[in-house]
Amino acid sequence: MGALPTRQAGLELGVNIDHVATLRQARYPGLMDAHNCEPDVLEAAAVCERAGAHGITVHLRGDRRHIQDADVFRLREKLKARLNLEMGNTPEILEIALRLKPEEVCLVPENRREVTTEGGLAVVGHEEELRGTIGRLQESGIRVSLFIEPDLRQIDASIALGAEMVELHTGAFANAQGAAQSRELERIAEASRHAHGGGLQVNAGHGINYQNIALIRGVEHLADLNIGHSIVSRAVFSGLDAAVREMLRLMRGGA
Ligand code: PXP
Repeated sequence: MGALPTRQAGLELGVNIDHVATLRQARYPGLMDAHNCEPDVLEAAAVCERAGAHGITVHLRGDRRHIQDADVFRLREKLKARLNLEMGNTPEILEIALRLKPEEVCLVPENRREVTTEGGLAVVGHEEELRGTIGRLQESGIRVSLFIEPDLRQIDASIALGAEMVELHTGAFANAQGAAQSRELERIAEASRHAHGGGLQVNAGHGINYQNIALIRGVEHLADLNIGHSIVSRAVFSGLDAAVREMLRLMRGGA
């Protein structure tokens, strides 16, 4: 594991490259070690890193619909930016995470039929099954994040479990418009203040794009934004390097 780049003040970007693997698996379904096949996730990660991304996020799903085991181990070996592994709380993926030792794990709910991660993790009521997983990850030196709705009860439960971070689910905000979107933004802002006050690092993700970043970037205390679909979609037209640079520019307040 290389030395981690030091964290500076301000928002940092973790690029979720799952959909680079989605494109690859569309052509090579069922292929598990696809390092000779286009598009290469490692090359995508390297481009994101060179463009200034602070981290790379991948979700190793139980059904392996996009990212494969071989991908995460190749990323672990070559990546200099921090690796954030998203995972469901299952024994199989936990064992992989403990061997992989990413800098960070984000525990997410996982449902086979969903197109993408739908809601936040139900921490409240599932403390016992989460406690063991969080403890084993932390004993291995991995920082743990819980992907939750911007809900104060879920935040309190995350603090009580000793997680280092929460990632606030921004999907409802991203899907809303007008006054409803302002209400969702205020929920996120309140959740961010509450989580920060409880000593957590506060991240956010899901549905953040080149338009709504102007609102998200104003939320106090946010540290990392994990953004995937909008960046990979824009990359189809502009290339991945330009797509990452443009998102970073907007995160810093560029017009
Ligand atoms: N954060 C988490 C925990 C996610 O599950 C996802 C979707 O895989 C993202 C961030 C990225 O969401 P999007 O692709 O909508 O940017």
